Amino acid sequence: MTTFLISGGRGLIGKSLSKMLKIQGHKVYKLTRRPKRKGHIYWDPEKQSIEGKHLHEIDVIINLAGANIGEKKWSNKRKVELVNSRVNSIHFLKKCAVNMPELKYFISASGINCYGYNSPQEMTEKDSYGDDFLSTLVKEWETASHSFEDICPVGILRIAMVVDKRGGALDKIMKTIKFGLGSPLGDGQQYVPWVHIKDLCRMFVHCIEHKKEGVFNAANGYLSNKEFMKTISKKMKKPFFLPAVPRRVLSLVLGEMSTMLTESLKVSNDKIKKTGFTFTHQDFDAAMAEVVKKDH
Ligand SMILES: NC(=O)c1ccc[n+]([C@@H]2O[C@H](COP(=O)([O-])OP(=O)(O)OC[C@H]3O[C@@H](n4cnc5c(N)ncnc54)[C@H](OP(=O)(O)O)[C@@H]3O)[C@@H](O)[C@H]2O)c1
Repeated sequence: MTTFLISGGRGLIGKSLSKMLKIQGHKVYKLTRRPKRKGHIYWDPEKQSIEGKHLHEIDVIINLAGANIGEKKWSNKRKVELVNSRVNSIHFLKKCAVNMPELKYFISASGINCYGYNSPQEMTEKDSYGDDFLSTLVKEWETASHSFEDICPVGILRIAMVVDKRGGALDKIMKTIKFGLGSPLGDGQQYVPWVHIKDLCRMFVHCIEHKKEGVFNAANGYLSNKEFMKTISKKMKKPFFLPAVPRRVLSLVLGEMSTMLTESLKVSNDKIKKTGFTFTHQDFDAAMAEVVKKDH
């Protein structure tokens, strides 16, 4: 049995991942600013405050904490919040690690939107960071994660859009389509990388079991936005006939955040596959079929 500490563990990914780890017989503590039940540990990275009583048990840290990228428009103030909630919280966790004598591995979430956009090529982990806001954020986030290498091996997953109807971007898109508003975004030709929640959680487990070091793209694949929206509509048995939402409208409504929807990104998943990891969802159609199953 391994004892895990998951920062941001009450969020979308943390819920599924902790469930998977518990089924496998592990002990999981979730670090949260709002503890509600047994197994939750209070912390507030901004105030550099943490409840210390279980830290000596921790074997592995899974870092998922960070203000939600898609929740609010990216004002300058929000941008600072998005960066600090990730970077400063890792630095604080590292300070706390002096009270974790058993710590053997640190793995952190990162974002696939780190390469810039609109390259015709598939981006691999060897490609450099882009120079837009998200790329800069990811660079700082990953640099903070790498600082744990002073203590233990470090793995970093560059996560694509998570396919799970219980939250995140897909939940919002499905709600729109439910009201009959299915249509492509922008010109619909831009590529969207995606990862199914179960494959993402399996990827965390794979990296932890094999103490994989370095960065890995976490994406089952990618498809055009038009195909993406059409597949969701089809699986939900909803219409898909409205004209595309123009890029300038998205930009007006969402500001700079709209780039996540309108710009194109193709990524390779060869590196994680070469470590022996296999994806269970081969294409987006199959992934969505599972998502819309009633009791998923
Ligand atoms: N879901 C995706 O599609 C996706 C894609 C790429 C990358 N990621 C990254 O993967 C990580 C986990 O994603 P998720 O979808 O599970 O996110 P989520 O549902 O938004 O959960 C993130 C958790 O971070 C904590 N948090 C929020 N603001 C914070 C702050 N200012 N300081 C410290 N902690 C804070 C919250 O925990 P408490 O309120 O309990 O403290 C929250 O439950 C995030 O860093 C996200 O950016 C997600």
